[in-house]
Amino acid sequence: MLSNSRSPIGIFDSGVGGISVLRAVINQMPAESAIYFGDQAHIPYGLRAMEQIRNFSEAITGFLLAQDTKIIVVACNTASAAALKHLREKFPNMQFVGMEPAVKPAAEYTHTGRVGVLATPATFQGAMYASVVERFANGVELFQSTCPGLVRQIEQGKLEGEETRRILEEALLPMLENQIDTVVLGCTHYPFVIPLIQQIVGDNVRVIDPAPAVARQTERLLEARGMRTPSRSKGEVKFYTSGDPGALTSLLPMLVGENAEVEKAEWLNDRQITSTHGY
Ligand code: DGL
Repeated sequence: MLSNSRSPIGIFDSGVGGISVLRAVINQMPAESAIYFGDQAHIPYGLRAMEQIRNFSEAITGFLLAQDTKIIVVACNTASAAALKHLREKFPNMQFVGMEPAVKPAAEYTHTGRVGVLATPATFQGAMYASVVERFANGVELFQSTCPGLVRQIEQGKLEGEETRRILEEALLPMLENQIDTVVLGCTHYPFVIPLIQQIVGDNVRVIDPAPAVARQTERLLEARGMRTPSRSKGEVKFYTSGDPGALTSLLPMLVGENAEVEKAEWLNDRQITSTHGY
């Protein structure tokens, strides 16, 4: 099938993290429709092998393409690190927007020359991170943490509370001792805990959420190809999860601020997905 300007934007992540990007896309372009895929059967991606994440990402892309998406936002730093290059080669006619840790704006902003980066182990190990650091760190010292357990807390909707705070303090307090003045959120789950992060680091530390910049980049790419929707009414958002649709449905009001239906998508194997729609 062929996409047109009224086709939806495809967005995917290993779980609910990409919803932080979806939120920014909706804010930026309220009339656009979107299809969101959360691969909750396989979360966390951050602890998996690159090749497996690539296979999952390719299958999810196929699933989204079968629904005529006009552009795909890889709203997951880990999947971007593992699969973005591969996806662009494999699907040369599709445009992809990926995530990379926002080291560039952080290095431009920092006064202390010290920046904290929070991301998954796979993101830190990938060639993309090494390349971003090499091109943009510019002598700035980076303090990294994988925040073990944080993705799980956010998947369960525990955006505040003792355990979530403990995980964040363990990551951030040593960074503060090292005089960081900027924190890069290199995992799309983490913007959901910005209030807690800001409480811990205080107002003098800037927290960089890349989602609004990714939404603007998506808009620019659509505009350049004349693919913005002509519609003036609010777009529709459809959710799919490979995990538990009921659990995701109950989290949506907190994560996106509204209710929506969630459909189940089932993995047949590491490379094939079906849904109740039969894609
Ligand atoms: N949301 C994903 C990211 O941006 C990570 C979560 C996971 O480990 O699956 O990297």
